[in-house]
Amino acid sequence: MTISQSQIIEKLPQRKIGQGESFLKFKEACNVENFPQAFADYVSDKGDIYYWQPEKIHVITKYEDACTILNSSNFTADRSAFVISQMPNVDISLVTSFFSITQKMMVMSDGKDHEIRRKSAYMGIKDLWVNSFEPTVRQMVKSLLDDVVAEPEVEFVSQIARVLPSQVLAELFCIPQADRDFFRNCADTMTAFFGGGVAYTNDVAIKTNKVAVSLREYFSDLIQERRKRPQDDFISGMLEAQKQLSLSEDEIISQATLMLVAGQVTTTDQICNNLFLLLNNPDILQSIRANPELLPNALEEFKRIDPAVTFLFRVAKADVVINGQQIYAGEAVFISNHCVNRDLPETENPEQICIERKGIRSFAFGYGAHYCIGARLGRLQIQELFASMIARFPNLQLSPKSPPERDHYSLAFSGFKTLPILCL
Ligand code: HEM
Repeated sequence: MTISQSQIIEKLPQRKIGQGESFLKFKEACNVENFPQAFADYVSDKGDIYYWQPEKIHVITKYEDACTILNSSNFTADRSAFVISQMPNVDISLVTSFFSITQKMMVMSDGKDHEIRRKSAYMGIKDLWVNSFEPTVRQMVKSLLDDVVAEPEVEFVSQIARVLPSQVLAELFCIPQADRDFFRNCADTMTAFFGGGVAYTNDVAIKTNKVAVSLREYFSDLIQERRKRPQDDFISGMLEAQKQLSLSEDEIISQATLMLVAGQVTTTDQICNNLFLLLNNPDILQSIRANPELLPNALEEFKRIDPAVTFLFRVAKADVVINGQQIYAGEAVFISNHCVNRDLPETENPEQICIERKGIRSFAFGYGAHYCIGARLGRLQIQELFASMIARFPNLQLSPKSPPERDHYSLAFSGFKTLPILCL
C-alpha cells in the first residue's frame, strides 16, 4: 500500500504558531508592578512551545523542554549567525573585531572548547578567592551607603545598582579606580549590541567595534603586565591556567571580556528587580526584619519571580522535534525564564511570592553546562547589599514622589531605568 503525499504531511509534526504583539513591545507597555506575572502569562498563554511569528523564534515555556534543550548536543550556544541575521542593515565587515572576541567566549562555545574556556575562567576566579572577597564587598557596600546617608532620596539604579557590580568587577581584575568608568561603559555597549538593545545601524556597529578593539588592547596590555608581575586577580589566574590548558591569548581576552560584560548588566538588573519586589511588598520586608535569616531565601524567591535574564537562547544544529514541535537546523529557541520559573517541579502556587519556600530553584542563573560561573559573586553582592540596607534604614521605602521605570531595552534582559527610593 502506498502512502499519499497528504498522509505523509499529516504524519509530520505540526508547528504550533503564535502571533501577537512582539515580546519587546509587550514588555515595554507593561505596568511596572505587574510586569513579571503579566509577561509570564503573555508568553505562556500561546502554548507550551510554539513558533513566534513577530520575533521568528521558537518559544519554550516548560521546565521539561527547557532541560531537554539545554542538555542536548542538537543545540548550540554559538548564536553569532542568529544575531547577525537580526541586523540586515549592518555591514558586518564593520563588526569583525566584536564578533572575533564574542565567538571565543565560553558562553558562545560548545563541547571541548567550552569545557577548556570555562575551566580556565574558574581558575581565574578561584573559589577561595571568592570567599576572601566577602569583606571587600561588605566594605564597598558600606561606603556606597555612607554616601547616601546625607541625602536619603536616592536614585538607586545610577547611585548603587550600577556602581557596586562595576566596583566588584574592577576588583576582580585589580584595575585602578580611574579605569572603572571605562570598564562599565564598555560593558554596557557590548551587552546592548549583543542583546539586541540598540538600533542596528552602521554607526552603532562602528561604535561597538571600537569598544571591542579598545577592550582587546586594554586586556592585551594587562596580560603583559600580569605576566611580569602576577597579582591575586582574574588575569593572573588565567595565565596560570594557560600553563596547564591549551589556551590562546585571544581566548584569555575573550573570557576576560565576557566576565566584564556578563557580570555587570545582569547583576545591576537583578539587584533592582529584587529591591522592587522587596519594597513593593512591605509585609515581606517586615517578615525579614523580624527574621533576618529569611533574607537569603527571599532573594532566591525574588530571582525566581523576576529574573533579570528574560530568555536563555540556543540555535538548533539539526532538525529536531521537541514536545511535538518541529524545529529546523538554524532556528533559534528562546527559553522563557519567567515561564520556566513558574513551572518547576514541587513548586506549589508558583505565581505567588513565598519567601519561606523550601529548596527554591530557578533558571535565573541558567541551567546545565552554561550555568552562571559568577553566581556566587552575584549572590554575595546582593546578599551583602540587602542585609546592609535593611539593617541601616528602618524606613527604607520606594520614593512616594517619583515612580520607578522599568528598562526593557532588549529581549534578553529586564531591569529598571530608574528606581527612586528613600533610605531613611
Ligand atoms: C545576579 C547576577 C547574575 C545573573 C542573574 C546571571 C545570569 C546568568 C545566566 C542566566 C547565565 C546563563 C546564560 C546561558 O545559558 O546562555 C549566565 C552565564 C554566565 N555568567 Fe552570569 N549572572 C550573574 C552574575 C554574573 C557575574 C557576577 C559574573 C562574572 C563575574 C557572571 C559571569 C557569567 C559567565 C562567564 C557566564 C557564562 C558561563 C558559561 O557559558 O559556561 N555572571 N549568567
